[in-house]
Amino acid sequence: MCGIVGYIGGQTAVDILIDGLTQLEYRGYDSAGVAVLGPSGARRVRSLGRVRDLEAALPKRLAGKTGIGHTRWATHGAPSEANAHPHTDATERIFVVHNGIIDNARDLRVELEADGVELTSDTDTEAVAHLIARSGADTLEDAVRQTLHRLSGTYALAVIDIEHPDRIVVARNGSPLIIGVGDKEMFVASDISAVVRHTSQVVHLDDGECATVTASGFRMFSADDARAVAKSATTVDISPDELELGNHSHFMLKEIAEQPQSLERMLSGRLDERFATARLDGLNLDAQALRRFKRVKILGCGSAYYMGQMGAAMIEELARIPADAEPASEFRYRNPIVEPDTLYVAVSQSGETADTAFAVQEVKRKGGTIVGLVNVVGSTIAREVSGGIYLHAGPEVSVASTKANTHMAVGFALMALALGRVRDLSITDGTRIVKALKALPAQIAEITAMPEEIDRAAKLLAEAPSLFFVGRVRGYPTAREGAQKFKEISYRHAEAYQTSELKHGPLALISPELPTVAIVPEDELLDRNVGALHEIGARGGEIVAITNPGVDVPEAKVVLTVPKSEPELDPILLMIPTQLLAYYAALSLGLNIDRPRNLAKSVTVE
Ligand code: F6R
Repeated sequence: MCGIVGYIGGQTAVDILIDGLTQLEYRGYDSAGVAVLGPSGARRVRSLGRVRDLEAALPKRLAGKTGIGHTRWATHGAPSEANAHPHTDATERIFVVHNGIIDNARDLRVELEADGVELTSDTDTEAVAHLIARSGADTLEDAVRQTLHRLSGTYALAVIDIEHPDRIVVARNGSPLIIGVGDKEMFVASDISAVVRHTSQVVHLDDGECATVTASGFRMFSADDARAVAKSATTVDISPDELELGNHSHFMLKEIAEQPQSLERMLSGRLDERFATARLDGLNLDAQALRRFKRVKILGCGSAYYMGQMGAAMIEELARIPADAEPASEFRYRNPIVEPDTLYVAVSQSGETADTAFAVQEVKRKGGTIVGLVNVVGSTIAREVSGGIYLHAGPEVSVASTKANTHMAVGFALMALALGRVRDLSITDGTRIVKALKALPAQIAEITAMPEEIDRAAKLLAEAPSLFFVGRVRGYPTAREGAQKFKEISYRHAEAYQTSELKHGPLALISPELPTVAIVPEDELLDRNVGALHEIGARGGEIVAITNPGVDVPEAKVVLTVPKSEPELDPILLMIPTQLLAYYAALSLGLNIDRPRNLAKSVTVE
């Protein structure tokens, strides 16, 4: 989604803004812009396209030590220079960048036009700039607060004013915003990655909070009544190197390759071999509390939802508690029944997905217990939940999520182990799972070392306009995530089915033109799976099988084998080749792998 950057301090603002916007591009964008307050007033430059197009449009000298910048993902109004942020008022005094959606923008625009204001864009944000400029308040802070009272919807806003070049005023309601604290310089951003090169000290705004940011510090206050809010900075643990490509061709490949190390880090200190369980102190739930839950309900979106399905299967098997996953985007709209003895789990890489954050609030509002599996420390969802498991995957830049998904699946395995061991999971079975978890990083390293075979299979699949991913029971979430990854970056129609469902309809589509990726773990369903694949082969369908060593899938054109784990954890390893299949297919098609069309990394609007 859109990205915000702001700078105030001793350096040339535009340089910091462009650098920050470049870091934010992965969130999705169609246009970008900056506004800088300099010795000769304000200067705004906007452009359609990427940040490098904006950079090319900048004048040679753009002095000024206070500025704001934005990368836009069109919501109100098509991508165009006129709709790009920053937006300004009629006198070009106030400049505003905004993430989120102002729901009553249409009414506000009608009202402004009735008052004779000439609107120059189709956006909701422009109304905000006019309202601030026309508020008549004595201070910029009051003008912003008064305007916020007129808005309904979601926003992260950064505002500068020619008459107050010594400050940036920011506000948050429902869209992420942080302040980066430097030495005699301050930063504003919608995402830590935009400031991490300059400072590791950040302050997270909460909904309903505003701040005045100057070169020497910040002052937080409530949007409601201007009351001062006490907040201090926390340290973020991301090194700028983690945001670099290094010698990898794409972030997606880098992130797939990082999984063995990142998983070692995630597991470190969390496995208790003596009691054959997982140490999850961050859940803030002791053994008695964990025993109290009769059900588990997992909420997430997209790939996080599929990982929730994988997690629910692990929890049911290992802890024998009924568990299921539901898209948070659906849950939030259906007046869900929230039960006191259900453990709700929100799962999110970014911790900023609006649908998931809203679902968390809905559970809390109805008195439910909700914990999180979140990657980004200090993110909105991480701060909303009562406890959780940080995924520690490190930054994920590629829009298509890979390593964060694997960490989610492993996070659920840890949760299933902990829930199981306070119930009926024996120490022998607990030990079996602990050992298997410890082996995962090295096993994943074996898989990521076999790109040639995967590349060959990927090329075969990339030629087809449409394909199936099939798996059953434990393997079905792997198939769903495999199809999701494939369609996201190769733009090929990929659909997942339970292998068992093929004969109930989808088999009609099987032909030499429609290949199938089959998830075939060596487990108690192996014979049935292989049997279903015969039916595909008999109809001329080509098969890429992802299976374990020693399994014979006679119908398969390509067989990709992954090391065997315990049956409950096999789906995690079987997923890794699907990440690589998607990558190599998109590579062979010459597509923009890290920034697929129409998608954004972090979906902070509805
Ligand atoms: C797929 C993908 C999306 C996200 C979804 C949720 O590769 O990245 O489907 O999984 O938008 O995002 P998070 O996990 O940040 O809540």
